[in-house]
Amino acid sequence: MTTPARLLPLLTRSHEGGRSSMTCLYRCGDACDQPVPNTSEGEYFGDIVAAGVSRRAALRVGGAGAAVVGLTAWSMPSVAAASPAAAGPAGKAGKGSALGFTGIAPTPATVDEVKVPEGFAWAPIISWGDPLHAGTPAFDFDNQTAAAQREQAGYNADYTQFMHGGAGNKGAHKGLLAFNNEYTNDELMFRGVKSSADLTEDQLEIVLAAHGITITEVARRDANSPWRWVQGGRRNRRIHTDTPFAVDGPAAGSAHLRTSDDPTGKLVLGTLNNCAGGETPWGTYLSGEENVNQYFNATGAPDPDGKLKRYGITSGGRGFERVRDRFMVTTEPNEVNRFGWIVEVDPEDPTSTPVKHTAMGRLKHEGATVTLTADGRIAAYMGDDERYEYIYKFLSRGKYKEGNKKHNLTLLSEGDLYVAKLNGDGAADGEYDGGGQWLPLVVGGVSKVPGWSVEEVLIWTRLAASVVGPTKMDRPEDVQPNPVNGRIYAAMTNNTARTPAEIDEANPRAKNKHGHITEFTEAGGDHAALTFTWKIVLVAGDPTDPQTYFNGFDKTEVSPISCPDNVAFDATGNLWISTDGMPGTLNYCDALYVMPLEGADKGKLQQFLSVPVGAETCGPTILGPDSVIVSVQHPGEVSGATPENVISHFPYRGDGQPRPGVIHAYRRHGK
Ligand code: FEO
Ligand code: CA
Ligand code: CA
Repeated sequence: MTTPARLLPLLTRSHEGGRSSMTCLYRCGDACDQPVPNTSEGEYFGDIVAAGVSRRAALRVGGAGAAVVGLTAWSMPSVAAASPAAAGPAGKAGKGSALGFTGIAPTPATVDEVKVPEGFAWAPIISWGDPLHAGTPAFDFDNQTAAAQREQAGYNADYTQFMHGGAGNKGAHKGLLAFNNEYTNDELMFRGVKSSADLTEDQLEIVLAAHGITITEVARRDANSPWRWVQGGRRNRRIHTDTPFAVDGPAAGSAHLRTSDDPTGKLVLGTLNNCAGGETPWGTYLSGEENVNQYFNATGAPDPDGKLKRYGITSGGRGFERVRDRFMVTTEPNEVNRFGWIVEVDPEDPTSTPVKHTAMGRLKHEGATVTLTADGRIAAYMGDDERYEYIYKFLSRGKYKEGNKKHNLTLLSEGDLYVAKLNGDGAADGEYDGGGQWLPLVVGGVSKVPGWSVEEVLIWTRLAASVVGPTKMDRPEDVQPNPVNGRIYAAMTNNTARTPAEIDEANPRAKNKHGHITEFTEAGGDHAALTFTWKIVLVAGDPTDPQTYFNGFDKTEVSPISCPDNVAFDATGNLWISTDGMPGTLNYCDALYVMPLEGADKGKLQQFLSVPVGAETCGPTILGPDSVIVSVQHPGEVSGATPENVISHFPYRGDGQPRPGVIHAYRRHGK
């Protein structure tokens, strides 16, 4: 596919966070252009005495000011950083590695192509609009209807979960794929629509139907063939803005969750802005409701204690209130409290009612990833994706029982909620690292936040957490346990608002536009522990930038990377990282990388694939060394792009228009 020969507005304007301005508008309601919601007091490096290191000593180590603490130490690693003038890694493919592929070179941001390593191929598994049921109409860009969209793959694929075979379907070449449909690009879905304000009511109904979650059976011809969706699969399902959800946990039925349509406070229609997620050991699908603020119009709504403001709920902009008055906050003030949860779906049972788990708190949930504690409880790790927000852990009250799905489906309904405080140990050791605590919010069914009830803590978790003094992070997104080494890896995407006075050892870079990844080790290796140690293993950016750090690896042999968002692991515990924002920060397409965490190649970051112009790489699932699933979200999302001015034709299936979806990258055996 050739690159479109037109000037891309992308190159002339990007937001602070590195995304296209259209991404910012549609996905998170221009969050980076809004005032930072978390204005609570936070402790920063300059304010505190880090464990064993006085502020004066830290400043002495760091040089002239706190802004360079640690970065100075890291600019003199044992292996010299590449000189910007030298032939560094930028623009060159990586050398061969033990990973079994040769890393690809970064792809210029204007290229409309999926790139995979030598010897690999890729194919779309499913794309926006693909019909799920036997009688579902085929995708027809110019004649789309809400009824069709409710039975077709949703828009903007994000988190993916793949279940090989699946219960009752044991074939090696059959499986089940579930994926989030985070948001819509209204300007790319319809002709003549410059913004959501231009949508007709019929188009708004299509938009509501294109949000949510898609579940589809998949099949492949043989072990060397790509997976592809199966129209008419028994478990195929769409979950969208009108799908009923049960509410469970301590806040279910709260007066703050009751509405005129639902006086019980226990039944919500729809899930929105589903971003990342996680698979449970009992085979269900967890999904995070993230930037839900954009769907609610709070014009004229009183906000005496700042609860709407802290969640970014202002004037909306997506127009949902025009077709569902529950999205007008003055009309239905509690509806907004019914979004921002972790939801659980049983993909095996298409008749099951999905659940919103209030015990896990209400945030801008990136996702939730779960693992077992030493005594068999469930630990769920969660990031709240906004500048200066926090990282959370949920510990179930009950224990996992192998094979008892009915019991296991109750585990996320009751438990303890904690928020992370990270303490640096000073810059003298040349590493960004230290210890930390999980600060209690709700334990044993009792609020640990003075003056706050349990239901208040769970419904307004952000504000309650600020009372106990956690560490304000640089947009914590995926937080995920590594099944091989038991450690937890958290992606901090970026935070360009952080000032030099606000840096701390856990967020050590002012105007952090490239982000970083932090490794947590729970005390005793037990996910039930309430203390941990931590270390930053990747400070992203162009490796020629002396501020970057690749877990100590020679920076002349690593790939540029920026804005880490999702993380995943392969069977040997290598860390896979997908990005959201490279076009705006490094002028490359977003990509998927792998970085070994152990051995001789520890820290050797290599690029595995890149997605087309305007797209974001999301939801990686590593099926094996030769087989990777990713979502290609918002291809062609470039300011000025329209159905008449198409910037990306992904997935190149003849429709002409960009169609976000899920792809399979696989090794071409025998070739
Ligand atoms: Fe939906 Fe945090 O990205
Ligand atoms: Ca340190
Ligand atoms: Ca994300």
